[in-house]
Amino acid sequence: MKDLKIYSRRDFPPYLPKLNSLYDDLFSGGKGFRAELIRRISGHLGLGEKPILLQAQTIEFIHNASLLHDDLIDRSHLRRGKPSAWLKYTPEYAVLAGDYLLARVMVNLSEYGNLRLLQYTAQMISDLLEGEWIQDSLVKDFSVTIDQLDQVHYLKTASLFKWCLRAPFLTAEIYDEELHGLLDQMGDLIGLLFQRSDDLLDFDIRNHEGKAVLGDLKSGYINSFSAVLMEDLSKENRELYVHCQTMKGLREVVGEDYFNAKLKLFDDINQSKIDLYGHHLQRLIESLPASQRGVEKELSRLPRILYWRDPKA
Ligand code: FPP
Ligand code: MG
Repeated sequence: MKDLKIYSRRDFPPYLPKLNSLYDDLFSGGKGFRAELIRRISGHLGLGEKPILLQAQTIEFIHNASLLHDDLIDRSHLRRGKPSAWLKYTPEYAVLAGDYLLARVMVNLSEYGNLRLLQYTAQMISDLLEGEWIQDSLVKDFSVTIDQLDQVHYLKTASLFKWCLRAPFLTAEIYDEELHGLLDQMGDLIGLLFQRSDDLLDFDIRNHEGKAVLGDLKSGYINSFSAVLMEDLSKENRELYVHCQTMKGLREVVGEDYFNAKLKLFDDINQSKIDLYGHHLQRLIESLPASQRGVEKELSRLPRILYWRDPKA
């Protein structure tokens, strides 16, 4: 199976032209990383084209539904370099388009009939929403702790990554509890690492894609690296810090050496999470039959891609 066609107009009713145009825009720019991860894992579990496509569509539909809603909540004007759906099609249609994707997911999964997969997917959507609710309650909370942020990241970000690791096994009707426990822990770690790396982009660290900087701070959201940066600042410098508008200004407020020491500390903390992920991976591989051990290659590259943002991994 070479090309995974996640989005096709044919999957949506032709009598809904506005919805079709909105989805054309939405799906044309995504990298489809989650779908590709599912495809790679599923390939080692002997799954066929149809169940792979079902999973790939499920995760990309949910991910894109959450982005439609998220851009409205964040009032973001751009998504994947194009005007956000709520700006182009009105907020009402952006919300409805997100809801419709979720509805399609439930129709497709219930038709497929794997109840474990359906239940787990419903739980994942519920987690995603809880994460967003908690995150919104933390905006303008300048004394937020890394533990509070981790809770949001497990719910909002890791829930989807975890699903990518576990769903192929559920689809292959492999339900072993110990195996799913390990995949759960690995998904949590990889989701946390991805989010923490994303939080570093806000400070222009390993920002190869040129994402806008200081967006979180300017909207009053203290992200995970911000929390680490703020912890040893004086009261006066904290006040200056939360009002910084440029990276140059921010580095001046905290001091160059302080900034670099905190970055090193943050990377070291996260490297220990990567080591733990590697430890779980080894246990996972030992528990798998030889025919499925090819998943090691797919899973071992994730920290390099998602935390270190290594384009060659
Ligand atoms: C991007 O975060 C957004 C998410 C990871 C999830 C948002 C979830 C919801 C809006 C809940 C609704 C869910 C469904 C299923 C409809 P970000 O704002 O940190 O990243 P960004 O810079 O890409 O916008
Ligand atoms: Mg957003």
